[in-house]
Amino acid sequence: MKHLIAPSLLAADFAKMESQIEIINNSDADWLHLDIMDGAFVPNISFGLPVLKSLRPHIEKPFDVHLMIENPDKFISDFKEAGADLLNVHYEACTHLHRTIDAIKKEGMQAGVTLNPHTPVFLLEEIITEVDLVLLMSVNPGFGGQKFIENTYKKLTDLKNLIERKGSRALIEVDGGVTIANAQQLINAGADVLVAGSAVFNAPDPINAVYELKHFLPE
Ligand code: DX5
Ligand code: ZN
Repeated sequence: MKHLIAPSLLAADFAKMESQIEIINNSDADWLHLDIMDGAFVPNISFGLPVLKSLRPHIEKPFDVHLMIENPDKFISDFKEAGADLLNVHYEACTHLHRTIDAIKKEGMQAGVTLNPHTPVFLLEEIITEVDLVLLMSVNPGFGGQKFIENTYKKLTDLKNLIERKGSRALIEVDGGVTIANAQQLINAGADVLVAGSAVFNAPDPINAVYELKHFLPE
């Protein structure tokens, strides 16, 4: 499978939403990554349901929603209603992860589980066959534009092995500090989906930045 690119809206210019929507629609982006932060699970607040709801009719790509919130169970149906296609919950925020994953799938969404940089991959041993995707955080969640944590490569190898050993069909997504400089190495290590915030929206030509991340042309 050719890898997928999911630009993260967090790095977009919210004062120019129309042009940002055009960038997303006219680029080779496969999904739109949407970071929901509650100021409690992570030390930052981003945007929420009304923003997703108003964007949904204008974006021609699936919504890859990354919940960085406490008690995600409370909001599963709200995010479905707001247009989420894939819902990622943090392992660290779910006491009853199996139930949460089940509830996401029952709502008709793809279910993803996200691991913070310090959370080992082996903790997914008993849930890996139930999830559609695993999102590996390659920075500490909460902010865009941070430095990529190199230990992610080791976690990609661990995750790839776990998925193969268990016969899981989960996709592997990497989020944080992804650039044109490390994209190829991430794909080689097993990533199926790359999230990119600042590497896309802070680039002089965001559409071209997506193209390069997708096709690895030299800058
Ligand atoms: C961080 C978010 C990321 C962020 C990535 O908490 O989950 O999705 O937007 O931004 P960059 O690509 O700039 O590291
Ligand atoms: Zn994210």
